[in-house]
Amino acid sequence: MSKFAQRMTTMEKSATVIKKLFEAMNDPKIISFGGGAPAKEALPVDIVREITNDIMRIDKRGVEALQYGGVMGVPDLREVIVNDLLAPKGVKGNVDNIFIINGGLEAMNLLCQLYIDPGDVILVESPTFIHSVEIFEMFQARCIAVDMDDKGMVTEDLEAKIIKYKPKMVYVIPTFQNPSGRTLSLDRRQKVAELGSKYDVIILEDDPYRDIRYSGSDLLPIKAFDETGHTILANSFSKIFSPGSRLGYILANDEVTAKLFNAKTATNSHTSMLPQIICAEFFKRGYYPAHHKMICDLYRERRDIMIECIDKFFPKGTKRTFPDGGLFTWAELPGGINTTELLVEASTNPDVKVAYVAGEAFFTEGGGMGNNCMRISFGSVAPEKIRIGTERLGNLICSKLT
Ligand SMILES: Cc1ncc(COP(=O)(O)O)c(C=O)c1O
Repeated sequence: MSKFAQRMTTMEKSATVIKKLFEAMNDPKIISFGGGAPAKEALPVDIVREITNDIMRIDKRGVEALQYGGVMGVPDLREVIVNDLLAPKGVKGNVDNIFIINGGLEAMNLLCQLYIDPGDVILVESPTFIHSVEIFEMFQARCIAVDMDDKGMVTEDLEAKIIKYKPKMVYVIPTFQNPSGRTLSLDRRQKVAELGSKYDVIILEDDPYRDIRYSGSDLLPIKAFDETGHTILANSFSKIFSPGSRLGYILANDEVTAKLFNAKTATNSHTSMLPQIICAEFFKRGYYPAHHKMICDLYRERRDIMIECIDKFFPKGTKRTFPDGGLFTWAELPGGINTTELLVEASTNPDVKVAYVAGEAFFTEGGGMGNNCMRISFGSVAPEKIRIGTERLGNLICSKLT
């Protein structure tokens, strides 16, 4: 039997975490604050049924949906992105610079193909999104963590580490960050863009939660401050439309777009046509504004209940974030509680049966960083279950402190 490639060992890490999350999500007895999936109520099933029926009745669109397509994606979906998603956020985009990809995650893969040679450094937030790190490591990048505080990535530390490590890329999740729920402040957004230009480093802005803001005011993306093309914006339709459709996009300058064309062609030719067309029609038929309001109302209510319950049931001294959008909050527990060890009991004890993601997995530094932290997703959990689950989890944590 041939030996598997070395990269398979690095891939095992997050595959194991994800497998456990899905197991927890599918166990009806567990209240899972683990996965970052949208609420089932937030998926536009009826609208998609109607659109799909229509598409298949219109010869041209039906054939287009089932035929091979262009590498960069369906033109009207790219127009929707420019006009409905980017322009209202202050980002000028040209349809020719929008690249449709197979879920937001494909951006990390394609951009590593473009930029990363073995041993290259990528600066990431501390903590950061495990899936992206897994892709970076698959390309044998060295991920170096940059400090974060309540205003997101600390730009003084970022500049110091750019100078020290000469990275190829900086990976930032600026809005309602996964896993911390924090948002990068406006002045730091501008600074990050400037540092990319000043030191000739690619800033990969991964912003899939930006469009689900349900309190506070919108902030311009880092890309809006980019004057030299060093910032590349990646986004996803997973949280505002449907994750199963596997749709995302990249906005980059002409030079990068041309290289993406080659990388995407070699990887999978183009993104599936049927979901692209359904998604384009969803926006063009005017469904998005009401859908967007509905999902924001739904998540706002869940966020409020989650925060209220954490404050009520978790022990004194717990620090948690208050996200103005997105699907999760992040808690740091007092008293030396190890959240990785606690998770075993929380998810198996019949009186608790609650899952979350232990914090340690999100830190590239290792050495036990984040072992008192947990990511708590509220997006896909019904309000009553949020109450019950948080009370049970809070009681378990408190019992460890007495
Ligand atoms: C920060 C971040 N980037 C990218 C993605 C991937 O999105 P997609 O499901 O569209 O691949 C996620 C999904 O949870 C995410 O949290």
